[in-house]
Amino acid sequence: MNLKDLYINFFISKGHKQIPSAPVVPENDPSVLFNTAGMQPLIPYLMGQPHPYGTRLCDYQKCIRTNDLDEVGDVTHHTFFEMLGNWSLGDYFKDESIEWSFEFLTKHLSIPVEKLAVTVFAGNDDIPFDEVSYNKWLSLGLNEKRIAKTVEDNFWIAGETGPCGPDTEIFYFRSADEIPESFDPNDDRWVEIWNNVFMQYHKNADGIVTELPAKNVDTGMGVERTTAILEGVNDNYLSSIWKDVIDLISEISSLPYEGNESSMRIIADHLRTAVFISADPAGIKPSNTDQGYILRRLIRRAIRHAKKLNIDINSDWEQKIATLILDKYKGYYAELGQNYNLVLEILNNEKIKFNRTLEKGLREFAKVTRNNEDIDGVTAFHLFDTYGFPIELTVELAKERGLKVDENGFNDKFKEHQEKSRTASAGKFKGGLGGNGEIETRYHTATHLLNAALKIVVDANVHQKGSNITSERMRFDFSCDHKLTDEEKNKTEALVNQWIREAHDVTFTEMTKEEALKTGAECMFIEKYPDVVTVYSIGNFSKELCGGPHVKNTSEIGTFKIVKEEASSAGVRRIKAVIN
Ligand code: ALA
Repeated sequence: MNLKDLYINFFISKGHKQIPSAPVVPENDPSVLFNTAGMQPLIPYLMGQPHPYGTRLCDYQKCIRTNDLDEVGDVTHHTFFEMLGNWSLGDYFKDESIEWSFEFLTKHLSIPVEKLAVTVFAGNDDIPFDEVSYNKWLSLGLNEKRIAKTVEDNFWIAGETGPCGPDTEIFYFRSADEIPESFDPNDDRWVEIWNNVFMQYHKNADGIVTELPAKNVDTGMGVERTTAILEGVNDNYLSSIWKDVIDLISEISSLPYEGNESSMRIIADHLRTAVFISADPAGIKPSNTDQGYILRRLIRRAIRHAKKLNIDINSDWEQKIATLILDKYKGYYAELGQNYNLVLEILNNEKIKFNRTLEKGLREFAKVTRNNEDIDGVTAFHLFDTYGFPIELTVELAKERGLKVDENGFNDKFKEHQEKSRTASAGKFKGGLGGNGEIETRYHTATHLLNAALKIVVDANVHQKGSNITSERMRFDFSCDHKLTDEEKNKTEALVNQWIREAHDVTFTEMTKEEALKTGAECMFIEKYPDVVTVYSIGNFSKELCGGPHVKNTSEIGTFKIVKEEASSAGVRRIKAVIN
């Protein structure tokens, strides 16, 4: 059994519920481009909102960290990784958390206790020494010389603000050397494999730390690193997670791994991340902004390294590698199976696009560096803007020739460019062409009101059959066996307008699909929704499963007017309506 399955089974046996991995692109958190830790999608629950699955959770979560893109190519760095996590939301705390980590490592992964060491929080002016964790480790049989008390690295927070707390980190001795009696966290033969955070605080933007309503546990274990350790390899890319991908790249390029490690690792890593971003429900496509830009950079950097390995980049090399990756992971992440062809298409299209300008760009690069002068920001931006060269490609090419690139200068130009394109798309938004603009949002909430009003005025058995919204009007299809009378139309319209005038708040909560159905929430295609759904409520008359977005209060909608009622198909009527 592999590590993921062992882990999940173990925590289920300790009363945890497995929750599905959240998308890599956060659904309700515009402050980060990607989830970087298993706890990120759980922030609202760590802050006190009840989780529909209860107080003991576990999962494997897709994570992406692109801050050290340049370091990919060595033995340990990856842009995408899977994080195993178990959580207590105000349920168990330090004792059980540490005990179960120890049990899992020593009994289920059969790691000898001699190879383990831990750090615990030594205490500072605000938070005391974590004596409970220290004593717990001692009681489990860890030698006191293997328990280091430190302050640095023993307080965990994702970025600058949010839920946080002291942690205890577990290390494994990854070396054939004799194991030193005393643990030195700075000796890099000891590698961290698991982090148990005791999350009982919240830090706000002013740096003020307050107690959370509950004492939570948040843990994280990296699948790639731990698998490599268990398999006794020092190069993560030689573990069972990567071995077949590396072998395939070696076969495609007819080159051995030895001597070509860096390019092969970059191709393997970047294509795997590109596969996961492309398959994500957020629908990311390569572009020059935000997540789309990361996706573009990853694909283009992989192409450039394929070229370095003399792979014919116009062949279907990347399709073969992506297919292997999709097949490896689709049993764990359904979206890879659902978006299989889309992923292959995105990679192929981006390859074609980049290949079109790559040769010209390389010629331009040779031209601008013919005098062996460093590359200024404007030139780097020109290479990006005209030839599609992401900055790290220019930096890499320059490095090969012993030249430097003014990356700050590039970033200034790039920011200017991003701002321009943001303003342009904000302009589109205002005109209501963005698809999710303010007008569409108002129309969207109006469909919920119309749905509820038809049930009261016409028939409790009316159900929505479809809807279509533009910035000019809404169309709403519903089951009904007769043409609406003028009276029915007038009453429906009047009721919707009454609710708008009454200024009801539009609220939402998350719950499991089953719970949502039990509450009687309206829903069109239940099978299309994920296991955990959002239910929007308005007053006591409307409750619908829906992805949003909605206005905060019905008073924002405006005046509602039905302009047409007609047949749509057998047993289905259609209303066209406008708001002003
Ligand atoms: N959130 C903690 C981490 O990422 C567990 O290390």
